[in-house]
Amino acid sequence: MDRIAITGGARLEGEIVISGAKNSAIKLMAASLLTDQPLRLTNMPRLADTRFLGQLLRRLGTDIVEQDGDDGAETILHTREIVSAFAPYELVRQMRASFNVLGPLIARTGHAKVSLPGGCTIGARPVDLHLEALRALGASIDLHEGYVYAQAPRGLVGAEIEFPFVSVGATEHVMLAAVLAKGETVLKNAAREPELGDLAECLNKMGAQVSGAGTSTIRIQGVDHLNGATHSVIPDRIETGTFALAAAMAGGEVRLTKTRSDFVDTLLDKMVEAGVEVIRHNDGMTIKRNGARLKAVEIETDPYPGFATDLQAQFMALMTLADGESVIKETIFENRFMHAPELARLGADILVSGGEARVRGVETLEGAQVMATDLRASVSLVIAALAARGETVVSRVYHLDRGFERLEEKLSACGANVRRIAGTGEPED
Ligand code: UD1
Repeated sequence: MDRIAITGGARLEGEIVISGAKNSAIKLMAASLLTDQPLRLTNMPRLADTRFLGQLLRRLGTDIVEQDGDDGAETILHTREIVSAFAPYELVRQMRASFNVLGPLIARTGHAKVSLPGGCTIGARPVDLHLEALRALGASIDLHEGYVYAQAPRGLVGAEIEFPFVSVGATEHVMLAAVLAKGETVLKNAAREPELGDLAECLNKMGAQVSGAGTSTIRIQGVDHLNGATHSVIPDRIETGTFALAAAMAGGEVRLTKTRSDFVDTLLDKMVEAGVEVIRHNDGMTIKRNGARLKAVEIETDPYPGFATDLQAQFMALMTLADGESVIKETIFENRFMHAPELARLGADILVSGGEARVRGVETLEGAQVMATDLRASVSLVIAALAARGETVVSRVYHLDRGFERLEEKLSACGANVRRIAGTGEPED
C-alpha cells in the first residue's frame, strides 16, 4: 500500500485549481439510473469513490464512458435498461453512498435488492431515515441477511416527510426516488448542503420538478419519465477548505481557483478570526499568512451552512500550533476524533472527551510516522506535517485517494515537499 512522505517547513506559493465535488458527483452518477438516455457530467473528479460507484452502476446496466472535455474530465452514463436491480455487498461496502442506488432502482423498476452499507469508522451511520422515507413513498421494505428487499410494483407515490434531524444522504436519496413518484412529495427539515442544490439542478435539467433545494423545505412534483442532460459538477467545498487550511498552516500565499468562497463562508470567518488573511474573488479566494502565530478559536460542527464536519479534522490540525486553547465540538458523528491521537504523535496537545476536543496550541510539531484512519482525518495529518519539523510518513493513504484528486501534485506545485512512496503490496502495519 502507498504512503505519503512530507517534509515540513516549506511555505506554499501559487495557485491550486479545485476539482468537482466528490459528494455531488456520486449522487449525480446515481441519477443516471433514472433515465434511459445519456447523462453527461462535466468537471468530474477522478477518485476512488467515483470508480467504486462506476463499478456498481456498470453491474446494474449503465454504460460509462470517461473522456476529457473543455470543462475538465467528463463521464457519460447511459442506462438504456436496468439489467439487474441487485447491488451486492462487495460493491456497496466499498463506498457507503452506493446505497443511494436503492431509491432510483425502485423508482425505475419497481423492485430492488441492495446491500446495507454496514458500519463505518466515523460512527454507526445507520440508514433508518432512508428506509422510513422510502416506505413513506409506498415502497414495501424488508431486511434479511444484510440486504434490503424493496418492492413498489405500482410505482412510488408522493408523500410529506419530515426528517427528525438533518441527513444529507437521506434527503438526497428521497429526492432521487420521488422525482418519478406519482404526485407531490414535500421534504421538511431537509439538508441544505450545496450538493443538494446541485442534484436538484441536474434532475430539473433532466425534466424533474424540484423546488426549494437549498432551503429546509423541498417540494418535488413527480413526473412520468426523465431525459438525458449535460451538467457541470459544482466545486468541491471540502477540498477548497482543506487547501485553504493547508496554506494557512504552511504559511505563504495561495490562490484557490475554479471554486466558490460562499460555500466555505463559515470556515473562512473562523480562519480570519484566527488571524489568517482571506481575499475573496469571483472564482475563489486567496489565503495568506505571513509569520505571525495564529490565535486559538472555537468551532462546533453543524449541518450546512454551519461548520462542516468534513473540515473539522483539518481545522484541528491548524489549531495544534495556535496560541491558546481551542475547543472543537463535533455534533454530527459520534466517533470523529480518531485523528487526535495521530496528531499527538506529531507533538500536538489534544484532550478528547465525548464529542469535544480541547487543543492546546504548542510551539512546534515534529515529523513522525502516522496512520490515516478515514478520509478527512488522513488529510489533517498531511496539513499538520506541512508545518512539522522533519519528515512525516502517512500510511494507509488509500483513505486519501477516496476523496482527494492528485493531492501531492497540487501541493507540490505550490512548493510543498510531498511525495508518494509506492507500496510493495505487503501490508504496511
Ligand atoms: C454526507 C457526506 C459526508 C458528510 C456528512 C455530513 C456524502 C457522500 N457524504 O454523509 O461526507 O460528513 O454528509 O455532512 O455526501 N443518520 C442516521 N440515520 C440515517 C442517516 C443518517 O442516524 O438514516 C445520522 C448519521 O449517523 C450521522 C448524521 O445522521 O450521525 C448525519 O448523517 P448524514 O447527513 O446522513 O451523512 P451522510 O449523508 O452519510
